[in-house]
Amino acid sequence: MITKKNLNPNLLRAEYAVRGEIVQRAYELEKEGKKIIYCNIGNPQALKQKPITYVRQLLCLTEYPTLITDPIAKNSFPSDVIEKAKYVLSENPIGLGAYSQSEGMVFIRKAIAQFIKNRDGIESDPTRIIITDGASKAIQSVFTLLMKNSNSGFMTPIPQYPLYSATIELYGAKQIKYYLDEEKHWELNESELESSIKEAKKSGIEPVAIVVINPGNPTGAVLSKENIKMIINFARKHDISILADEVYQENIYSENNKFYSFAKIMNEMKITDVPLFSFHSTSKGFFGECGHRGGYAEIRNLPAEVYEEIVKLQSIGLCSNTAGQIVTYAMVNPPKENEESYDLYIKEKTAILKELKKKAEILAEEINKIKGMSLKSPQGAMYAFVRIDLPDEKGVNLKNMTEKEISEYEAKRDGEYCLRLLEETGICVVPGSGFGQKPHTYHFRMTFLPPLEDIKELVKKLKDFHLKYLKRFE
Ligand SMILES: Cc1ncc(COP(=O)(O)O)c(C=O)c1O
Repeated sequence: MITKKNLNPNLLRAEYAVRGEIVQRAYELEKEGKKIIYCNIGNPQALKQKPITYVRQLLCLTEYPTLITDPIAKNSFPSDVIEKAKYVLSENPIGLGAYSQSEGMVFIRKAIAQFIKNRDGIESDPTRIIITDGASKAIQSVFTLLMKNSNSGFMTPIPQYPLYSATIELYGAKQIKYYLDEEKHWELNESELESSIKEAKKSGIEPVAIVVINPGNPTGAVLSKENIKMIINFARKHDISILADEVYQENIYSENNKFYSFAKIMNEMKITDVPLFSFHSTSKGFFGECGHRGGYAEIRNLPAEVYEEIVKLQSIGLCSNTAGQIVTYAMVNPPKENEESYDLYIKEKTAILKELKKKAEILAEEINKIKGMSLKSPQGAMYAFVRIDLPDEKGVNLKNMTEKEISEYEAKRDGEYCLRLLEETGICVVPGSGFGQKPHTYHFRMTFLPPLEDIKELVKKLKDFHLKYLKRFE
């Protein structure tokens, strides 16, 4: 009989806190009738965000082409969507039930290249774009490509989105952690990057790439142009690739911040010798089409023979799902101003982004009023990484512990905090240790996706809970 002991140890070691133990407990409590406010995961439509009508209409007609010629379609679908569906089917006459090219349908890759050109004012090569089942698959493919052996090191931010640490464990590679600077709104710090790469090399690790998440998950930070330039120069100096995770590029809430893509800045710097893998997704932004698994990687500065290997890798998995490809097409090719579906599209888009901005602001304002909690106001993405002050526990002397023991002890403490929060209030968040945090600091991550009314209720509950929780240390 197979037991856990017979399994791949890399898989057993990998952790993914966003769907971890606390979430399992939340499901149990919900079954028992408790109201749960799920703030653990960036899954907008699971938290009542409505799908964008244009996306679903295009999907509907392309999945069921018979409808296009049915008189019903004329009355129920805007004319531009009907025309677009016809165009999709003319470019892909084999239909959505057939495998597409491994890298994705050619006309969609061309549309992505045009989207990048419109966004950044730079050329993009459709033959260097791969459409994938969400950004996750693209990211994992790049890890497969770059991981030469078990000493290959991937620099990842701390805190980070746990797909990265889990993939590194899964593939048996090495994680090179670099801490983000909480005091400077979670910027990357050059001396921190230098010292972390130096330490890694000293211990025999061979760095191959740096991961940057912009806008940040879990931090909500949006990187400045200067910060991006610094990272590009750093990667060039150390001859490593850049993985630019830009899945939250549409989620910017502060007027003082702007999204700059790595591709644009690299182009401005005229740098052509740093391999760049940029990722985007249909899961985030205002689409929130997580379940449709759409996304892509745009790849620059890679020799043809290397690029061929990533295409081969994609072909081993045949192709990404075709519905996700259509959603990706819808994302990069929205209705134009003179088209029938434009007004509704803009109305829905604006409403979603406006509401997210409002929730981010309310959350930051209210949390910063709570004694013992603080939050760098999220400028982007969909998360708040809330810092909590937990007093020392009596009888515990960290000085007598090893680094590993301290980190386990601290993970236990923020895990305990989040579990109690869930049990007592129904609020489901993820402990900061699931993303990584500086030693001797505690955080939790929550999304601000739930409806506004839930957010208001949640902040009040958070405050009452935190004050009550601290009493145990008096
Ligand atoms: C930073 C970041 N990158 C990638 C992903 C994966 O998204 P996808 O649904 O496109 O696989 C997520 C999902 O939450 C994310 O937060």
